Amino acid sequence: MADSKSAKLLVEGKEIELPILSPTAGPDVLDIRKLYGQADVFTYDPGFTSTASCDSTITYIDGDKGELWYRGYPIEQLAAKSHYLEVCYLLLYGELPTEDQMKDFETRVTRHTMVHEQMHNFFRGFRRDAHPMATMVGVVGAMSAFYHDSTDISDPLQREIASVRLIAKLPTIAAMAYKYSIGQPFVYPRNDLDYAANFLHMCFAVPAEPYHVDPALARAMDRIFTLHADHEQNASTSTVRLAGSSGANPFACIAAGIACLWGPAHGGANQACLEMLREIGTVDRIPEYIAKAKDKNDPFRLMGFGHRVYKNFDPRAKVMKESADEVLDLLGVHNNPTLQVAKELERIALEDEYFVSKKLYPNVDFYSGIILEAMGFPTSMFTPIFALSRTVGWISQWKEMIGDPQNKIGRPRQLYVGADKRDYVDLGKR
Ligand code: ACO
Repeated sequence: MADSKSAKLLVEGKEIELPILSPTAGPDVLDIRKLYGQADVFTYDPGFTSTASCDSTITYIDGDKGELWYRGYPIEQLAAKSHYLEVCYLLLYGELPTEDQMKDFETRVTRHTMVHEQMHNFFRGFRRDAHPMATMVGVVGAMSAFYHDSTDISDPLQREIASVRLIAKLPTIAAMAYKYSIGQPFVYPRNDLDYAANFLHMCFAVPAEPYHVDPALARAMDRIFTLHADHEQNASTSTVRLAGSSGANPFACIAAGIACLWGPAHGGANQACLEMLREIGTVDRIPEYIAKAKDKNDPFRLMGFGHRVYKNFDPRAKVMKESADEVLDLLGVHNNPTLQVAKELERIALEDEYFVSKKLYPNVDFYSGIILEAMGFPTSMFTPIFALSRTVGWISQWKEMIGDPQNKIGRPRQLYVGADKRDYVDLGKR
């Protein structure tokens, strides 16, 4: 990050020189850290559309070119050649592992897949019909009550153990939330299965009969995990960083990330997208919904379309679309009406002036729901699956922040537009 370039800003006649930081890739960044001290003004940027909140070495997105890299490696290569636990290693430690490092990491993760037995009782306190995301926010937050020995964030070893615990236990927790919601017994993790196969087993096996995980489906599941593993400073990741900046323990921070992810503008979009595709139902009704999306007076948005950063295409959506075709083929699901509506909707929207001019393209959520539904997951499980995939991204970003000696508590400023100072009026005189 060279800072030999600078910019000059004139604030009410006073010239301020601001350094310009040059990243490895992407636009230069104006360093305004000393602005308030020098010029007594704040900057205003709700939604952080022009503001970098940190520096990071983990993930890079080029929204115009439609590129996503984890530690420099393009997502298409990782989706085709790598697997989720290797991607976890890469995100956490910065480099691809050697064979020995991979083996060791796999052993460490599989050793932590079970949750404390008492957590089973904790699950049972929730209403049966609770959304699995509601259960997950509660249970992951409660992990800090079960794993005291890894909550001291000043100890690098405890940070490491907490990271591995979270990556290992999130599939177990998501599967338990699902099993609880359908009234089936919890299925314990099986450490002879790989990460994705184990998750499918915990979700779909029952004690009454053997369950065989189809390796091709496990591979598709693994790819979904990989595509969602990190996405630089999105809303939930920024939430995790902000929560962590105060020194909160990692379990509490990840619970905050899960809560943020739940929103329909973020991770909740995959559930909302599939519900929308089902509501449209048939190809002939698409124009009606396109018209609704374009109507300024109608709050309806085409779910699974648009992205804050991608203004060309979402590279994850491309891989996901291929995966959807493969999985439906594998399961013998032909002429799936939801897929037909999705494909036609995509075709029409990509040619429509409104979507073209606003650079609205299908995002990762547009096809993921179709795959998950075909695998047998109810829509309520889509966002929990996103959450468990993203946990490694959150934890990598959290670790990067905590390990940075320059880390400060996150504390945005504001543009106050409320009442001016005024005197209190006694109740009887109002
Ligand atoms: N359908 C119709 N119009 C849209 C859509 C959409 N899905 N998305 C954006 N627009 C329009 C807006 O109305 C706005 O129009 P205007 O300029 O005339 O006011 C313009 O495009 C820009 O939209 P913003 O909301 O300002 O863009 P922003 O970058 O803030 O929002 C977001 C991005 C939240 C993803 C938005 O596109 C959206 O709501 N999409 C649907 C939800 C979704 O799929 N979310 C998943 C995101 S990916 C993820 O989290 C993994």
